[in-house]
Amino acid sequence: MTQTITIIRGDGIGPEIMDATLHVLNALDAKLAYEEADAGLVALEKHGDLLPQGTLDSIRKNRIALKSPLTTPVGEGFSSINVALRRHFDLYANVRPAKSFPNTKTRFPGDVDLITVRENTEGAYLSEGQTVSPDRDVATSSTRITRKGSERIVRYAFELARNTGREKVTAVHKANIIKSTSGLFLSVAREVAADYRDIQFQEMIVDNACMQLVMRPEQFDVLVTTNLFGDIVSDLCAGLVGGLGLAPGANIGTDAAIFEAVHGSAPDIAGKGVANPCALLLGAAQMLDHLGQVDNANRLRAAIIATLEAKDSLTPDLGGTGSTQVFAQAIARRV
Ligand code: NAI
Repeated sequence: MTQTITIIRGDGIGPEIMDATLHVLNALDAKLAYEEADAGLVALEKHGDLLPQGTLDSIRKNRIALKSPLTTPVGEGFSSINVALRRHFDLYANVRPAKSFPNTKTRFPGDVDLITVRENTEGAYLSEGQTVSPDRDVATSSTRITRKGSERIVRYAFELARNTGREKVTAVHKANIIKSTSGLFLSVAREVAADYRDIQFQEMIVDNACMQLVMRPEQFDVLVTTNLFGDIVSDLCAGLVGGLGLAPGANIGTDAAIFEAVHGSAPDIAGKGVANPCALLLGAAQMLDHLGQVDNANRLRAAIIATLEAKDSLTPDLGGTGSTQVFAQAIARRV
């Protein structure tokens, strides 16, 4: 059955990497139909709104979106569109794989294959509870962790581990100091872990986890953590495998899921045709997994690996001289 997905081309390099990604998806003959919707600066210019209602309606209807990066204008009155999308659709699980790829500059060639599962809706990222005193001498922010939010994210991590043949889940926390919020997350994680005796459960304090990731990343498999720690730890993990050009992310909820590259709209190289499309392509592979098209997802990942191995038409960030389009064509030939 053909699945209609919402396509958001986004800003900056967004349209270039989306064209490249759709070219490869078409070569894969994935059973997909595309519905275009606008968000970001391009939507502000066309519709007077960074996130038009029509885009929200399209995602609600199709339940799946593939999204290029969006530029959030700097200045008062503009809040992050990505955060708004996560809140609107309650996309509670931010799933970010980090895997070593051939011929990429990294300190750990071939050794890293882990997934960060970040809670995406609560923690320190609340818009309420942010105050600055009138004299700007004191600022406060509040953090909220709930049993429901912790339970569903930890359960998601264990189910992901079980369904993908992974062996260990590490809960990353700071419960030794932040006893209320991080303490609640950890105690719920322990309760949930008891339901998954087939998966090894490990607890690690976030500062130690960061050091261990840099020293011996191969010891990790699935990491699960709260919003702020997950934001930082998942970028650290992207750095372990050669940076943001190869880092995809999925934002998954019960009623909708949005797949994307982790990097931004890269205004410095926009329009030059040299952006690396791999992160969005890997996001598309996560989307195919989510849709149950696992063979297609694996073929897509294998084609990316084979193209990197052959150093065929790599973009400048990967040390080549290829363009986005020619690199995508090289990947499409191998799917
Ligand atoms: P950025 O990720 O866009 O760029 C950082 C550096 O990485 C730049 O030198 C850029 O050229 C390079 N880069 C990024 N993606 C690349 C790719 N695919 N191929 C080759 N090089 C690549 O981060 P920056 O400059 O901080 O943000 C630019 C804009 O992107 C901002 O407006 C920000 O709000 C937005 N942004 C959007 C995100 C999203 O929609 N998911 C995520 C992060 C930032």
